[in-house]
Amino acid sequence: MSNIPTAKLNSGYEIPLIGYGTFGGHDAPEQVYNASKVALKTGYKHFDTAYIYQTEEALGKAIKEGDVPREDLFITTKLWQNFHEPQYVRPVFERSLKLLQMDYVDLYLIHWPISWEFQSYEFSDLKSTKDMKNTHVPIIDTWREMEKLVEEKKARSIGVSNFTIPMLEDLLSKCSIPPAVNQVEITAALPQEELLAYCKSKNILLTAYSPLGNPGYKKDSRATLDDPVILDIAKKYNKSPAQVVLNWGVNRGYAVIPKSTTPARIEANLTYFRLEDSEIEAITALGREHPYRSCRPENMWGPSCAIFN
Ligand code: A2P
Repeated sequence: MSNIPTAKLNSGYEIPLIGYGTFGGHDAPEQVYNASKVALKTGYKHFDTAYIYQTEEALGKAIKEGDVPREDLFITTKLWQNFHEPQYVRPVFERSLKLLQMDYVDLYLIHWPISWEFQSYEFSDLKSTKDMKNTHVPIIDTWREMEKLVEEKKARSIGVSNFTIPMLEDLLSKCSIPPAVNQVEITAALPQEELLAYCKSKNILLTAYSPLGNPGYKKDSRATLDDPVILDIAKKYNKSPAQVVLNWGVNRGYAVIPKSTTPARIEANLTYFRLEDSEIEAITALGREHPYRSCRPENMWGPSCAIFN
């Protein structure tokens, strides 16, 4: 637990490389409240939430009621795409702080490089995502507001999520504060080698969401937790397949934020060990030739939201 490695972000702050990922859905607030209590007791220091998951309040409450000092934790939340116009960034960020019962977050991310019209700050007032109208707010306009939050020490670090290399290139060419993190889908089926090399070269840390490949939900059978390559490595170290793929990520030099509501898995996922370079390569090779991306905005919100090849 205490041996979980950290990385130093380009902002100077340290981020623990295994975190607890929260998630959306009807029952999410209550499940996340209970699971976050388990995660805090287990020793997780890094927690990931977002406006759209509606779990900020539940996470904040679990932290407030726990006995881990706020300053020992690393808390990430995210700006949803109805709030990209500059005048909406600060109010919706303040809403997140209020729900979290915090006076700063460790990391604030632009959730998607997509912008939709503003409707309301309240999630319950938002229209169905199918009825959203795309707007054309340049990312740098949103980013300038994020930079102000850093200057005011309300967000210690700022970053992005679901950004491709050309999107990062563009932002880096215009920003005053570079993104500290790019949070993206990385799994054994989608090893993201090019993006990882690029982000390392620019001192941007990747965080992997769905690092287990979202077993149970994933529709594709490539490089799953029962792949023989992963099972062999698990057997060698006497670890579970999930622990192997999480540490494949940490050993490659990025953060992983697995989600779970099962106490035994929450505990088991917070385990660090070293893999051999040849084992890292064997897992990376599983998804190299025919990568599979599970989280595609065009599938969730329609063709006008497509951003990946
Ligand atoms: P559960 O909540 O029942 O533990 P990802 O973070 O890649 O999206 O995956 C989330 C899914 O993976 C959840 O459905 C979760 O189920 C499951 N999961 C979490 N930890 C483990 C584990 N150690 N082994 C197998 N499945 C896991």
